[in-house]
Amino acid sequence: MNYRNFGNIDFKPSALGFGCMRLPQLEGEDNRIDEPEATRMIRHAIDQGVNYIDTAWPYHQGESEPLVGRILQDGYREKVALATKMPSWLVEKSEDLDHFFNSQLERLQTDHIDFYLLHALNQGHWDKYLSIKVFDWAEKQMADGKIRHLGFSFHDEFPVFERILKGYDYWDFCQIQYNYMDTNYQAGERGLKMAAERGIGVVVMEPLKGGKLAIEEPPQVVKQAFSKAVKDWKPAEWALQWLWNQPEVGLVLSGMSTMEQVELNLQSASRSGVNSLSPEEVQTIKDVRQSWQGLAPVACTHCEYCLPCPSGVLIPQIFAIYNNAVMYDQQGRGKRVYESDIPAERQADACVECGTCEELCPQNLTIIEYLKDAHQYLG
Ligand SMILES: NC(=O)c1ccc[n+]([C@@H]2O[C@H](COP(=O)([O-])OP(=O)(O)OC[C@H]3O[C@@H](n4cnc5c(N)ncnc54)[C@H](OP(=O)(O)O)[C@@H]3O)[C@@H](O)[C@H]2O)c1
Ligand code: SF4
Ligand code: SF4
Repeated sequence: MNYRNFGNIDFKPSALGFGCMRLPQLEGEDNRIDEPEATRMIRHAIDQGVNYIDTAWPYHQGESEPLVGRILQDGYREKVALATKMPSWLVEKSEDLDHFFNSQLERLQTDHIDFYLLHALNQGHWDKYLSIKVFDWAEKQMADGKIRHLGFSFHDEFPVFERILKGYDYWDFCQIQYNYMDTNYQAGERGLKMAAERGIGVVVMEPLKGGKLAIEEPPQVVKQAFSKAVKDWKPAEWALQWLWNQPEVGLVLSGMSTMEQVELNLQSASRSGVNSLSPEEVQTIKDVRQSWQGLAPVACTHCEYCLPCPSGVLIPQIFAIYNNAVMYDQQGRGKRVYESDIPAERQADACVECGTCEELCPQNLTIIEYLKDAHQYLG
């Protein structure tokens, strides 16, 4: 296993961390984890040097934390840094913080959490946490030794990330969605670099875009881009190595669902290193990214020059959902994300065709027409 730097923290995380959100299931039911197999996988990863285990209150409908607590018995707890998260969407008042945190210590059978995150921060959750003085609470837990390091995971637009990062002086680490297709999405590459410059460790989640970058039979154009590569790596390894190549990346969390994936990712991690990719290998990833992007219906770069739309239409966010759904052939998922992430009054059909955005778009996109297409596909 290779170990890496992690912001200003005196801890060297393994290049690969174990994300406990996609553990093997019985009969495809999310809340029925195959416990013997999950135990074998997680303990094997730890035996091979993985020293960071990530779970959270809602994973596997609440079953992940208690299971991780059981798996880390027999001396395994002492071998790892344990990360879990405050379920931000369930917290309403300051007393809730103690309630969830104490339950988590019990579920995980531990007296402290090494890396504690405020889960899925966005503007709304951030405002709520400030109003209930979450940092007074967290600093007390840290003084009592119950939390060793405080961080947050993030799902919102970059300006919100910047606000949160700069809104508290003592963050130790953060967790962001980042992979070679999501360099300009949410915190993105800008967020990664900004955190690293401030000495904040960065944990990468969704390194394989939830598995989409690991499929072994991608569309033909993507396959072709891989076929020109000098190395015969599987798609998953290309995606992971691209991350490990970057000095700002602390550790990469993968949610592995089979022992085979654990083995492959452990092997990849042992081959990894900062700046270890050759220029040709970096070019392969660029070509692969371009071939995926060629499948996207809208060549939007998410620059946001078109915002704010006077009618409130969330133009780049809508195009991102539309592009993802078409590229990865996931219309159903795209529809669900469109409904949950874009408020009805800000969806594409709120466009009144004033044309302001088209004048501002550096890509000269026919935004009005594309919005109609997107709404037809996702609405
Ligand atoms: N804080 C948050 O808001 C948040 C959000 C998302 C994730 N997370 C955390 O971050 C972790 C990582 O995110 P993620 O689970 O989305 O990671 P990911 O690595 O992008 O996706 C995991 C999926 O990729 C596939 N996979 C993994 N290794 C593979 C390999 N070698 N070959 C082929 N397929 C492979 C598997 O898909 P199949 O099961 O389809 O085979 C697996 O379920 C999560 O487990 C969770 O702990 C946190
Ligand atoms: S054309 Fe539509 S999307 Fe563009 S600024 Fe006007 S209302 Fe907004
Ligand atoms: S200005 Fe154009 S490229 Fe930029 S986010 Fe808006 S639609 Fe996308």
